[in-house]
Amino acid sequence: MTRVAVAGLGYWGPNLVRNFDDLADLAWLVDLDPELRERFAARYPNAQVTDDLDVVLADDSVDAVVVATPVPTHHALAKRVLEAGKHVLVEKPPAMHAAEMDELVSLAAERDCVLMPGHLLLYHPGVLKLKQLIDAGELGEVLCVYGNRQNLGIVRTNENALWSLGVHDLSVILYLLDEDPEVAVAQGRDFLTPGVEDVVFCYLRFPSGKIAHMHLSWLDPHKMRKMTVVGREKMVVFDDMELERKVTIYEKSPWKRAETYGEWQTRSGDISIPKISTAEPLRLECTYFLELVAGQHDRGKVARDGARVVRALEMLTNSLHA
Ligand SMILES: NC(=O)c1ccc[n+]([C@@H]2O[C@H](COP(=O)([O-])OP(=O)(O)OC[C@H]3O[C@@H](n4cnc5c(N)ncnc54)[C@H](O)[C@@H]3O)[C@@H](O)[C@H]2O)c1
Repeated sequence: MTRVAVAGLGYWGPNLVRNFDDLADLAWLVDLDPELRERFAARYPNAQVTDDLDVVLADDSVDAVVVATPVPTHHALAKRVLEAGKHVLVEKPPAMHAAEMDELVSLAAERDCVLMPGHLLLYHPGVLKLKQLIDAGELGEVLCVYGNRQNLGIVRTNENALWSLGVHDLSVILYLLDEDPEVAVAQGRDFLTPGVEDVVFCYLRFPSGKIAHMHLSWLDPHKMRKMTVVGREKMVVFDDMELERKVTIYEKSPWKRAETYGEWQTRSGDISIPKISTAEPLRLECTYFLELVAGQHDRGKVARDGARVVRALEMLTNSLHA
């Protein structure tokens, strides 16, 4: 069994700990906070506990480290893990700058190690269905994609809506379209905490001519977790707030009938709801990581896809603060 360490036992880390305890050999738990170390030592008696990542990196029996610490620490911690020749799953985003991410990607390739960003939604069966529909040509040519990630709260003061919410949608949009944007601009306002944008609108344009948009906000009456893909032949909506109707396919499209002499009309056909697995996306993400470690799938691809997200995030951040 793969021996795994998890660094960062705050809000999100415990979800990763639970999954790796089920799926792998949970060897070490790392956090700077003594109370958390004590609590997790009691809960996972088979794992060793430390505040020092170097102790874990010096343990030759450890195969992989999962990093769930705050974003500004990701690059330095992931770099240390890779330099120690161990595989790493880093929470999103693994670096704050494209140059830092490129450094991690090169290091992972050099050491033949897995560098996997924790882009949870890429393992969501609903998002996989969108990808499958697009790649099979079911929607016809894809024209545009837009994401809505809005709610009233959680009001964050250390990360803006682009970084806290937008990384999820950005990873999905880039995964679906499989292109780097040539234009990525963002506009937003910091209504509650100076310097921390709580409402952000983003626009992306791709070399193929496709366009995308993201509305990110924690100042909104709607709780929305939605991604809409508009194709020339069909349109599809992934709504993560729905329990049983995660994905809805609309046979709606523009149509030029011969007898209308070139005028556009619209066509509305069936609306269908495919069955989507209710498997926990985080469980699927952790399983995928272990499979990568075991030599399955394309290691380079997950790292390069992660770098694409950081590049686009950097373009959006630069434009937001311009
Ligand atoms: N995929 C998702 O849906 C999702 C959801 C929430 C958070 N996250 C990500 O998880 C990461 C952690 O977020 P959080 O909300 O749990 O943060 P948090 O502040 O609640 O927890 C971070 C923990 O890391 C510990 N820590 C900090 N530096 C450390 C170091 N050098 N070594 C060991 N431990 C260290 C802190 O003591 C703290 O306990 C972030 O990258 C965040 O983006 C992902």
